[in-house]
Amino acid sequence: MATITIDASRPGAKINKNLYGNFSEHLGRCIYGGLFVGKDSPIPNVNGMRTDVVEALKKLNLPVLRWPGGCFADEYHWRDGIGPQEGRKRMVNTNWGGVVEDNSFGTHEFLELCDQIGCEPYINANVGSGSVQEMAEWVEYLNSDGDSTIAQQRWANGRKEPFGVKFWGVGNENWGCGGNMRPEYYADVYRRYQTYCRNYGDNKLYRIACGPSGDDWNWTEVLMKNAAAHLDAITLHQYTVPGDWTDKGSATDFSKEMYLTTLEKAADIERMIKGHLAIMDKYDKEHRVGLIVDEWGCWHNVEPGTNPGFLYQQNTMRDAMVAAIHLDIFNRHADRIPMANIAQMVNVLQAVILTDGAEMLLTPTYHVFDMYRPHMEAQLLDCMVASDMLTGSLKKVTASASIKDGAVTLTCSNLSDVDEEEVLIQVNGLKPTDVTISLLAGECHAMNTFENKENVTIKPCTDFTVTDAGISLKLPACSVAAITVRG
Ligand code: AHR
Repeated sequence: MATITIDASRPGAKINKNLYGNFSEHLGRCIYGGLFVGKDSPIPNVNGMRTDVVEALKKLNLPVLRWPGGCFADEYHWRDGIGPQEGRKRMVNTNWGGVVEDNSFGTHEFLELCDQIGCEPYINANVGSGSVQEMAEWVEYLNSDGDSTIAQQRWANGRKEPFGVKFWGVGNENWGCGGNMRPEYYADVYRRYQTYCRNYGDNKLYRIACGPSGDDWNWTEVLMKNAAAHLDAITLHQYTVPGDWTDKGSATDFSKEMYLTTLEKAADIERMIKGHLAIMDKYDKEHRVGLIVDEWGCWHNVEPGTNPGFLYQQNTMRDAMVAAIHLDIFNRHADRIPMANIAQMVNVLQAVILTDGAEMLLTPTYHVFDMYRPHMEAQLLDCMVASDMLTGSLKKVTASASIKDGAVTLTCSNLSDVDEEEVLIQVNGLKPTDVTISLLAGECHAMNTFENKENVTIKPCTDFTVTDAGISLKLPACSVAAITVRG
């Protein structure tokens, strides 16, 4: 039996809603086909944006969306993607499949998408192959409230009001696809580029520097030492690769051993978060600088028969458990992590949505995000988990808790692929009078397919008891529960 003890009497840090952000890159069928089909498509759309996908994302209350990459960002030249769509430059997407990118989805389309979803834009600009002037003028084009020639170009393209984009990434993975830079060099380049990214009107840019990959402590050390005063946040990229980079493993066909390894690797992100925060502390004693995990999630082999450059993979209950592990960890570090963005939103890597022509399905990962929604902007609560170990390093149960408007939300998961787990939940500081529970459960290989889209869905759970000892329920093997408790 596992015991979860929540202290509802001492609300802690606010959980920034942006921890539940997403990432969309010009990669495979994420943008084209997944999000954007063009106005003339027979697939229902508003100004080219798929209605089914937009509606599903609205239901998630998606808070923030990162674009245009990824590696694509450091080859993206924003002027190629404005003005009449038919006249836009065609380029080769050298990072992802060598396909022709016709730039029909550009700045205005991205901001229209964000507007339809109701989320904030996070634009990641080009440092690797772009100039300082190009970046500075993109900010001006987006945000200037004056009547400079560049602002007038925005008006001519149909937008008089400044967009007021706040989140601004200065390069992506500049230690790799973003220019293969050394941290000393990038720190200087970062300082230079961000200098010319101006605040317009009352829109103060939130400047995000390219941070480390995994446990590259040296990158964080050098960047913080040399540029901390000029940035608001640094990024962390950490993917969960079940195998290794030469054979990552199948998304759907995996052994028990591989299942457990995947979850252990997912949980390892906490070591990286703690390690980087400890280094950041040396240069930022006030904790002003945030750590943004703007690429995370499972990276499996592509689905057989699909373009290897498109990174299309299926999504099972194993991915759902990986999502729950990450989101619980992010919640627990809410005081230092202001944003996280799962990679990626549609049809790429650990996607929340898959599409096939006019068809759309919600993955198990989507449902986890749906269940965690009450944590957004809630205050973190201390949540102690006493459970057996699943592996040498991983407890059977992961959890996090928060409070908002007097209601406590506990998300807790039974990570075991075979054993049911009895859980006793004690909420100190609140006598439960009203308890509701929803459950996502399935065999660890369970997934949604275009033939069976509802195989894995959230179900209400009524099989629990509330006594003076606490709330008792049995978590099925491989399940995520969201429990709301009111006093
Ligand atoms: O998400 C796919 C790729 O992974 C991104 O383009 C890059 O930033 C990372 O290496």
